[in-house]
Amino acid sequence: MKLKAEHDLALEFLRVTEAAAIESAKTMGQGDRKHSDHVAVEAMREVMDTVPMRGRIVIGEGERDEAPMLYIGEEVGGGNFSTDARDEFPEVDIAVDPLEGTNLCALGANNAIAVLAAAERGGLLYAPDIYMDKIIVGPSCRGAVDIDAPVKDNLKNIARRLGRDIDDLAVICLDRPRHKQLIADVRATGARIRLISDGDLSAGISAAVAGTNIHALMGIGGAPEGVITAAAMKCLNGEIQAKFVFDPERLGVDKTKIPPMKELMKRLNEMGITDPDKIYDTNDLAPGKKIIFAATGVTDGALLRGVRFFGAGKRTHSVVMTTDTKNIRFVDTVHVEGGPDAVIRF
Ligand code: FBP
Repeated sequence: MKLKAEHDLALEFLRVTEAAAIESAKTMGQGDRKHSDHVAVEAMREVMDTVPMRGRIVIGEGERDEAPMLYIGEEVGGGNFSTDARDEFPEVDIAVDPLEGTNLCALGANNAIAVLAAAERGGLLYAPDIYMDKIIVGPSCRGAVDIDAPVKDNLKNIARRLGRDIDDLAVICLDRPRHKQLIADVRATGARIRLISDGDLSAGISAAVAGTNIHALMGIGGAPEGVITAAAMKCLNGEIQAKFVFDPERLGVDKTKIPPMKELMKRLNEMGITDPDKIYDTNDLAPGKKIIFAATGVTDGALLRGVRFFGAGKRTHSVVMTTDTKNIRFVDTVHVEGGPDAVIRF
């Protein structure tokens, strides 16, 4: 992409995730995950359109016929500019998750975020909305894990790289029946586990940030979340390995819930994926050279605080990262609304 003003675009994308986080945070605890998601999508779409870019959604809310906004293939950005000006804007591929952890937001539980990743054209894998098995570790453990290796071998290697005993490790994993064996295998090594109800994207990021007390993420979650996590890994020097999972038995779901393999292969082929058994590494999922990742906390979480509302406005907490400039910015924004007498607290 002609993304010469990458850092400028990064701050533009910050506005986008902030807007989605604010709108969904207003619905926190109302018990309506679809509504929470809907308002996040609307807000994200509206602000996205003001960004000076020729953007295209590559991971979004679904196919065009099932999503009115932020559907795969939708052209976004440049809305406030003339056609001539638009021609000069960079071409950007964007993967969005306007509300990651819809249930978390609906219940007022921790770790819901609004998030997106962007890259030059072709810089993010066009992953369909199916499941992926994932293993995610931080910079010190890069190259020490293998998604096909037994859990105990991976944990032994992670412990060695981190200079600690296996008992001192904490693995994060979605609490799903499909993970019964994985959880038993982790427990058998003596490592500790943090089971989460939802949100393996922010959990994966925690695994790559020192000081979060999470040393690896393991298990099956969404493929789109895997691509966005990979974009974050590129910025954080972490590692993700992932593989599509289609087997209903392994997923613990009824056969009728998974489209027949022939249909799945057709969809995968259309997205440029020819080998369904391939092991994807960080670069396969997010091959872009100029990646931007932005996330804003909706509810409080391990890395980000949730949105605060007060008389004179709102306060949001975000992380914005870029591969090019190697900046990782934690941004605490006060959105002032209260007029000239508004009181801003430190
Ligand atoms: P939503 O935000 O779309 O509700 O997804 C939450 C999530 O927990 C993801 O973090 C995870 O990848 C996926 O759902 C797991 O899917 P499932 O709930 O079907 O196991």
